[in-house]
Amino acid sequence: MSNNKYPNIRMRRNRTHQYIRDLVQENTISVKDLIYPIFILEGENRQEPILSMPGQSRVSIDNLLKIANECVNLGIPAVGLFPVIEGEKDFYGSESYNENGLVQRAIKTLKQHFPELGVFTDAALDPYTSHGHDGIIDDNGRILNDVTNEVLMRQALSHAVAGVDFICPSDMMDGRIGKIRKVLEKNGFYDTGIMAYSAKYASKFYGPFREALGSKVGLGKSNKNTYQMNPANSDEAMHEISLDIAEGADIVMIKPGLPYLDIVYRIKSTFKKPVSVYQVSGEYAMLKAASLNGWLNYEDTLMETMLCFKRAGSDMIWTYAALDVARILSQK
Ligand code: PBG
Repeated sequence: MSNNKYPNIRMRRNRTHQYIRDLVQENTISVKDLIYPIFILEGENRQEPILSMPGQSRVSIDNLLKIANECVNLGIPAVGLFPVIEGEKDFYGSESYNENGLVQRAIKTLKQHFPELGVFTDAALDPYTSHGHDGIIDDNGRILNDVTNEVLMRQALSHAVAGVDFICPSDMMDGRIGKIRKVLEKNGFYDTGIMAYSAKYASKFYGPFREALGSKVGLGKSNKNTYQMNPANSDEAMHEISLDIAEGADIVMIKPGLPYLDIVYRIKSTFKKPVSVYQVSGEYAMLKAASLNGWLNYEDTLMETMLCFKRAGSDMIWTYAALDVARILSQK
């Protein structure tokens, strides 16, 4: 027994020099782990900074191409698209499946110019609905699950037709993964993947995103608690994940990121499936705000969060800081 103790065991020996710290390091972050979420809008040569997300902008498709080019040059494998709809919002979110809509055109243009760059899209109605919810509501404001699924299927199919690589349902309706998988198979989109926002919590950390998207105004005082998960729950996340995997999800996601690392760890350990995590807008805003005040070092704390995601078991990370992480890694 005494062999297992100080002074025979000195944990600090493996920390004495950088070379040995490198050798015993258990997890690493690579540019190949990153997915960059981008907000897009109509028009030409537009770039509107998002105030609550310093460094991020809403961009028109021509500028999206420039960002995509940068991603390719830096080695970032994929981008995620989030549309800012300025006109055509209605009660039913019908613009969501317009085959000539903003997202559908963005997918096509990206795939034409950068076929090797993964293009991921959100399946949810919140950018398109006048009330800002991810689903369709009745006169009493209740979300109609199955009616919403029908619209999500049309939305997903329109993205697949445009050439999207992965559809990422973020709406949290019951049964939508199976429904979307079915419509993709039926139409011959066998290789179009589904990354399910499976454990998506009703989080206040989405605030800056809703501001960027413009869904905040429509939502007003209402919330998404009848479809997104209660932050207090963990077993329920396991149930959600098992359902989405059974329904055909290729990758499952946990969201938000840092406050939910226990969920990431639990899901990776149990299911051994590809796991994604989303470092959401509020997490990014916190890092930025503190560093702009001189209270934290942005680059150092950012890179630490990346390692934490990997350590918890995430295979990939959605982050608004993807370009920063990639640049930092390329300078090393
Ligand atoms: C909408 C959606 C949200 C996010 C991704 N897709 C917000 C929400 O559910 O209100 C959040 C992303 C972020 O905060 O960065 N379906």
